[in-house]
Amino acid sequence: MSTAPGVFVCFEGGDGAGKSTQVRLLAEALERAGREVLVTRQPGGTPLGARIRELVLHGDHVSPRAEALLFAADKAHHVDELIRPGLAQGRVVITDRYTDSSIAYQGAGRDLGADEIRQLQHWAVGGLFPDLTVLLDVRPDVGRSRRGDVHDRLESEADEFHAAVRQGFLDLAAREPERYLVLDAGGAPDEIHARVLARLDVVLGGRP
Ligand code: TYD
Repeated sequence: MSTAPGVFVCFEGGDGAGKSTQVRLLAEALERAGREVLVTRQPGGTPLGARIRELVLHGDHVSPRAEALLFAADKAHHVDELIRPGLAQGRVVITDRYTDSSIAYQGAGRDLGADEIRQLQHWAVGGLFPDLTVLLDVRPDVGRSRRGDVHDRLESEADEFHAAVRQGFLDLAAREPERYLVLDAGGAPDEIHARVLARLDVVLGGRP
């Protein structure tokens, strides 16, 4: 958990879970309430991150360990350049994906081992973890039909890969229920948003 004055919120979930919509709805609601908000996404979010994103999602074959290191490099840079400064300024930092994506996709999906990838990610982000992680839980077949025809390297993996990723996310949430909000991604966007806001109120309770 971050000890900086800001609040760190992360959205996680399989491809096609509807994270970007929820990130946008939450940012708009917080801004209307007068909070300073910083929205970002991983991989990407910085010029270096955008280049890593291109390499790892749209390039040729990348070996699984190289893939894990590229995602870790993106996060290390991202945390130093954007997330820690944003939190130090007292902002609510909302990120579309974070360390759990790597633990689920590289650790469980690529079968590199959740514990090893957790250690790698922990090192990469210098131990900075979200105050709240919203996991939008989506079944692989539902995610596939929602995201349509355009597939990046990870999205084009088989449903078994996405089933392992989904289980990887659920295992992480089960380990630390106090830090997670798990929601069925099949719910109406407005209802999901309302539940996120309600939980965030609890997290923000007592903070200025
Ligand atoms: P995302 O930005 O959610 O995709 P899109 O913009 O196309 O909706 O995520 C990109 C892909 O990267 C997604 O398939 C998950 C994967 N990913 C990892 O495998 N490991 C990671 O650490 C991160 C952050 C993402």
